[in-house]
Amino acid sequence: MDAEVAPLLPPTPPAEDTRPRARPRRAETYVVAAFSVLAFVSVTLLSASALRRHYAGGGWGAHRHGARSPASAPPLLGSVPASEALTFAVIGDWGRDGSHKQTAVAGALARAAAAHDLRFVVSSGDNFYDGGVDSTGDSQWRTSFEDVYKQRSLVHAAWFSVLGNHDHLGNVAAQVDYSGLSRRWTMPAPYYTQTFTLGGVGGGADAAPGWDVQMVFIDTTPFVRDAYGKAARKLNGQKPDVQLDWLRGVFANSTADAIVVVGHHNMYTMTTSASLGVPEMRAYIEPVLLAARGKVITYISGHEHSLQHLQPYGEWGRGGAAAVASGEAVVHGASPVGGAATGEGGMDHFISGGGSKLDPMTPPSRAKAGMWLHCCGVLAVRGDTDAKSQGADSPRAVWGAESHGFYVFEVTREYLAVVAYDEGFNRIYSYERLLGGKRE
Ligand SMILES: *[C@@H]1O[C@H](CO)[C@@H](O)[C@H](O)[C@H]1NC(C)=O
Repeated sequence: MDAEVAPLLPPTPPAEDTRPRARPRRAETYVVAAFSVLAFVSVTLLSASALRRHYAGGGWGAHRHGARSPASAPPLLGSVPASEALTFAVIGDWGRDGSHKQTAVAGALARAAAAHDLRFVVSSGDNFYDGGVDSTGDSQWRTSFEDVYKQRSLVHAAWFSVLGNHDHLGNVAAQVDYSGLSRRWTMPAPYYTQTFTLGGVGGGADAAPGWDVQMVFIDTTPFVRDAYGKAARKLNGQKPDVQLDWLRGVFANSTADAIVVVGHHNMYTMTTSASLGVPEMRAYIEPVLLAARGKVITYISGHEHSLQHLQPYGEWGRGGAAAVASGEAVVHGASPVGGAATGEGGMDHFISGGGSKLDPMTPPSRAKAGMWLHCCGVLAVRGDTDAKSQGADSPRAVWGAESHGFYVFEVTREYLAVVAYDEGFNRIYSYERLLGGKRE
């Protein structure tokens, strides 16, 4: 991370790298009914683990959390048959030869894979520090990937991966090409999409129709004008406009029932420590996602080395839609209150960057207090420093932890459920959102 945010977007030569997978299927009317959200935060007291900074809907505190509760399967995951759920983990910012607890997080990921019958793992980028890989024969493939995520529950899981700014310092084509050499590494192109059908089994007139979840993997670094972005443009010559057109086309062509977008850089943040890329993501990517509002249920990134959950006010209404938690107590959240977004469906933003080395989650200094808003009983931080934007598009900080770890996501016809685990496989956060239907 650097502090500097430069102006936006220089065009560069195109890269031919798309593999749209959208399948034309039945015409779909996507109706998002008024949703209600139940979310809760559980902060487990103590253990020998280090003090970590933790934010949960009401303020910052340093909490000890860790090993007391063995991670039993949370109630929200696995409540429908596996064929009716798309269950996957998202881990980001990891490749450090096993150091900085990368190996411990891998152990927890392996336990999650066994416990939740994950269909695949998603890497949200910064796969290899500090400078990506040189080639498909780079020793980091072994020391940072194969030898670290080697547990039996993980070796068969596909890894759908995106590129981070550190990957762009190396050989991007090698990360694409490694897909052909590995049973699990999957990066058919720097940006790509893959659709999964839930259910739809059985024949005859009574067969339940399938339900499609489309995963869209984007390459965010070429949009970002920091040093890494410059390197990306120079080394990899990708033209951002081409990717944006592709993304619009993916959404326009999509017949999926729900879309999940994954990229490396975050659009919102609750820290002041690593917001690089936020303005560009908000300027270029977010409008395209919002144009597919209702279908795009979540945007998942890495980049900041922590775990965060944010909800932009502009989509959720100022009443917000998720939990308010304080101290170590578990507090249940309220349903969305007012706001145009109610009934339309907002987009949840998750940051999954706890795969190895952590960033401090720095609360704002007094001098930067103007960056912060207080609303509705929670503290929220704006995603940028432009005073004009303090308002409807400001994010609501729902939860964050300066913790190693990763998320498990489960998307079904009815709900999006999300659980965060730390490196001890302790469940440190969970969230559930209905997707327009009621849980039976
Ligand atoms: C969308 O569909 C059009 C028309 O079939 C096609 O030309 C285009 O390549 C598609 N775009 C994407 C990104 O799938």
